[in-house]
Amino acid sequence: MQFSTKALPIDKARTGCVVVPVLAGGKLGATAGAIDAATGKRLAAALATGDLASKAGSTLLVHLEGPVARALLVATGDKSTVDERAYAQAARGAFRSLRGQGARDAIVLLHEVEVEGRDLDWKIRNAALAAREAAYRFDRFKSKPDTTPAGPASIAFAVDKADQAAARTAAARATAIANGMDLARDLGNTPGNVCTPTYLAQAARELGREFDLKVQVLGEKQMTALKMNALLAVARGSAQPPQLITLEYRGGPARQAPVALVGKGITFDTGGISLKPAGEMDEMKWDMSGAASVLGTVRAVAEMKLPINLVGIIAAAENMPGSQATRPGDIVTSMSGQTIEILNTDAEGRLVLCDALTYAARFKPGTVIDIATLTGACVVALGKHHSGLFSRGDALAGELLAAGSDMADTCWRMPLDEEYQELLKSPFADVANIGGRYGGAITAACFLARFTKDYDWAHLDIAGTAWNSGASKGSTGRPVPLLTGFLMNRARS
Ligand code: BES
Ligand code: MN
Ligand code: ZN
Repeated sequence: MQFSTKALPIDKARTGCVVVPVLAGGKLGATAGAIDAATGKRLAAALATGDLASKAGSTLLVHLEGPVARALLVATGDKSTVDERAYAQAARGAFRSLRGQGARDAIVLLHEVEVEGRDLDWKIRNAALAAREAAYRFDRFKSKPDTTPAGPASIAFAVDKADQAAARTAAARATAIANGMDLARDLGNTPGNVCTPTYLAQAARELGREFDLKVQVLGEKQMTALKMNALLAVARGSAQPPQLITLEYRGGPARQAPVALVGKGITFDTGGISLKPAGEMDEMKWDMSGAASVLGTVRAVAEMKLPINLVGIIAAAENMPGSQATRPGDIVTSMSGQTIEILNTDAEGRLVLCDALTYAARFKPGTVIDIATLTGACVVALGKHHSGLFSRGDALAGELLAAGSDMADTCWRMPLDEEYQELLKSPFADVANIGGRYGGAITAACFLARFTKDYDWAHLDIAGTAWNSGASKGSTGRPVPLLTGFLMNRARS
């Protein structure tokens, strides 16, 4: 799917479909009004039938004669002002309904709607991401892939001459973000028997080749030499060797401290000896979604050529209950020197992450953000709408909250007080890897906090947001937009 811009007016333009927002009370904007006039008031007539529901995202297709073959009318809700949510619903509705139809190209006017507090850049990005979302498919493992078109192959945003450059930039950035999200989604949706730690390393190498990044992959031997015994303890029960993957993107001044993104890459989480129940265990193929979001974000940043330095670090392993597996009660010495009593082998994410976070210090990062499908408790606390955000730094937390709301990929700040550290006490080691029944997302974050003393750090628990269950089962590509938005803001300041 290609995005472009088209200069107004467009009533003489040739297109398969024009996507027209309809305001409360059936009102059309100026551009749509001109098309209506040029086509013998066919749009007004269609609206007069009452066939377009006012609910934001409802659509009505009108066939026209002449250079504009169709108009897709999209309701933006019944309020006099359109808010972000209604705009997003309209965009989603429009591109979902275009998916089933024959138009091979479309001209979009959605962004002509006023959205409170949002500019053209935001509106075009939001619409473009909705278009790519509607077009996403994952049929690599179907013997007969769906051959019906997934939407128009080319989409043009019609804007005034003066706005052409801004619109083009917005569309190009949305494309980079969508490409990053698609990469994350493809990796997440790929099953555990294919997407192994070695497979993730290969994906990183391919990304490195395409965007000229420095990629390094450490195997078991090197991790042993580095004393990454917490990470290695997780991989022991699996026949798949663990991989510690790093990618370096250098777009900023050489002296500038990089941002490091550290992703949990458990390619399948059985729970290990603390075995999970059978129900929905298949969903644990998505336990590498943090790692996938690191690759997706690095891809987006590299495609945008952002003037920043970025390091991606992925701790990849498979958590299996093999005969060499770690036992509950085993004690390991992490790379940081802290000893850990592994009371539950299903709390494995924090074990691979703690060594990766210690390793991250080698890149002398100013800021480190880890991303992990870390706890079921986070899903209980926040549901599937917000990711959990933990940070000691108010400024960093503020940046991530703001980027999340700008990019419609939100997070919600959770506490990280020292008081909770009590819960991780072990009679035999420096720290236990679980903290009991209460505040599970918080104690998991507190465990990680012990390994992040050397830099500004935030932790995103994406257990609820990285994938959908049920009818629309699959990877969401989150939090690639949030992370990319955060880095775009860093690049500006
Ligand atoms: N990968 C899971 C977390 C998870 C569970 C994500 C369900 C999404 C849905 C993680 O490794 C895990 O098993 N966490 C345990 C921690 C517990 C043993 C302290 C959990 O949440 O139950
Ligand atoms: Mn687990
Ligand atoms: Zn896990």
